[in-house]
Amino acid sequence: MPMEKEGPIGIFDSGVGGLSVLRHIRDALPTENLLYFADSAHVPYGDKTEQAILERSLAIAKFLLEQNAKALVVACNTATAAAIKAIRSAYPSLAVVGIEPGLKPAALHTRTKIIGVLATKGTLSSASFNTLSGKIATSAGVQFALQACVGLADQIEKGELDTDATEILIHRYIAPLIPQNVDTLVLGCTHYPFVRPMIEKTLRQLSSAPITIIDTGDAVAKQLMRILAEVEICRIDERAGRLTAFTTGNPIVLKNTIFALLGWQTEVFQVVAEL
Ligand code: DGL
Repeated sequence: MPMEKEGPIGIFDSGVGGLSVLRHIRDALPTENLLYFADSAHVPYGDKTEQAILERSLAIAKFLLEQNAKALVVACNTATAAAIKAIRSAYPSLAVVGIEPGLKPAALHTRTKIIGVLATKGTLSSASFNTLSGKIATSAGVQFALQACVGLADQIEKGELDTDATEILIHRYIAPLIPQNVDTLVLGCTHYPFVRPMIEKTLRQLSSAPITIIDTGDAVAKQLMRILAEVEICRIDERAGRLTAFTTGNPIVLKNTIFALLGWQTEVFQVVAEL
């Protein structure tokens, strides 16, 4: 198992959503080398079967390890729900961090005890989400109002962060949550932080009471920091780390999207769609 301190951290998502996690990782661990894998030929994961997502995730994990990744971040809620257990059992000595909708921080924050959750169909129907939400609902005495946002990740993939079509979609998904007295809204998909301004605008239009948004990208970066320190594989170097990206889609599109979303020039390589 490649555990060299110099090795990069492998981060993956169905598409560009994981970049919302990557930017927190870059802030928290500026000297680490990062590999980003966008499975753009297969996005969205949210409408696929667990088995299909599991197979993709294992293939991508293997690819990233072949690039000497010393740790893996599953920067996708849908893939974490479907595949993190299998990845951990395939690579028991590897540091693996996943992302789950921030139900716990939301339960600590809510006053109305009703929490909205925006996520993909795959995440909301997964066994791991249902086990977690059931436990938290019982222990904290809260209710979750679930909203699958079909098509929203696709809008973000197209770069439509502030178009009318995206606004209409966001309005359609958020409107039913307001009469349920939601005061906290969990972004349970890593694509959604990129439309956070549009979500905030829609919340202001629909609700006179403030609604707090919960995003766990930062918590994932902190967890990764803790694990790297624990297993003593932090990169010891003063120089800034490099980001290299891979996609099963069009590398020019990913290069332009990384620049548009994060303002970074990145080398992007194309990988065969069926790894
Ligand atoms: N970004 C992913 C997530 O966090 C999934 C979006 C998709 O491919 O449907 O769930």
